[in-house]
Amino acid sequence: FGGKSDQKESNEPSQSSDEQQKDICIPMTAYSVWVSEIMLQQTRVETVISYFLKWMNKFPTVQSLASASLEVINCKIFFCVFDESEKLNSRNFLERTFEKKKKKEVNETWAGLGYYRRAKNLHLGAQKIVEEWKGEFPKDVKGLQQIPGIGQYTSGAIASIVYNSAAAAVDGNVVRVLSRLRAIACPGSPPLKVHWKLATDLINTQMKGKLVHDASNGILNQALMELGACICTPKSPNCAQCPVQSNCLAYRQVQSKVEPTTTIM
Ligand code: ADE
Repeated sequence: FGGKSDQKESNEPSQSSDEQQKDICIPMTAYSVWVSEIMLQQTRVETVISYFLKWMNKFPTVQSLASASLEVINCKIFFCVFDESEKLNSRNFLERTFEKKKKKEVNETWAGLGYYRRAKNLHLGAQKIVEEWKGEFPKDVKGLQQIPGIGQYTSGAIASIVYNSAAAAVDGNVVRVLSRLRAIACPGSPPLKVHWKLATDLINTQMKGKLVHDASNGILNQALMELGACICTPKSPNCAQCPVQSNCLAYRQVQSKVEPTTTIM
């Protein structure tokens, strides 16, 4: 992309969209990690980036998402022109319209990402967090799972990345990495109990190590996801570049020409 004809004619330094994105700094909070994890559930990182920035610009806090709306005040003024008997009907009508507009605003910002249930759950979840928990996110996995759309994976990701909890986060990429590392015959996602156990064991082992610090658990989980997305890919994994090649049982099986228990090549 971006040959000569795309360049600005002025002498101002031009920025590619990648560079512009690098300049924007979104604080890492439970809210921002929640939004990004929900977006990443069915969509690739490269695609999510611009949607995430747009969303955080439009709804920078959980409160702004919960109240994504038109001005209620306009509706109140409108009610005054109706007599008592009509008031109720017009109020119902306006409240329904108001609800639709709210959703519309959320859906408009989501448009292009697909699977709109995810946007609906973010909106419902934000309302629950604001109304029931005064805008505070639960800090543990069980509490996070009370939010619509948050299951074991997303709660583990948020708890480990934001609060450094010792919680595993096993998505489809991590299932593949763990299956190959331990040569578990496995058809792929969804994760089985054995994957959750292996991922939890890795976190617990790391916590006994010397290099542990206050973000280790989130970093370990994200490293596993990234390894699966970039190196330990479903077809033709790049074993030569893999940082855990020497620990990988599937790789060893292939090298020693043992019938592999999991697909690797
Ligand atoms: N890849 C790297 N980090 C990730 C994350 N937090 N969620 C999903 N995929 C990722």
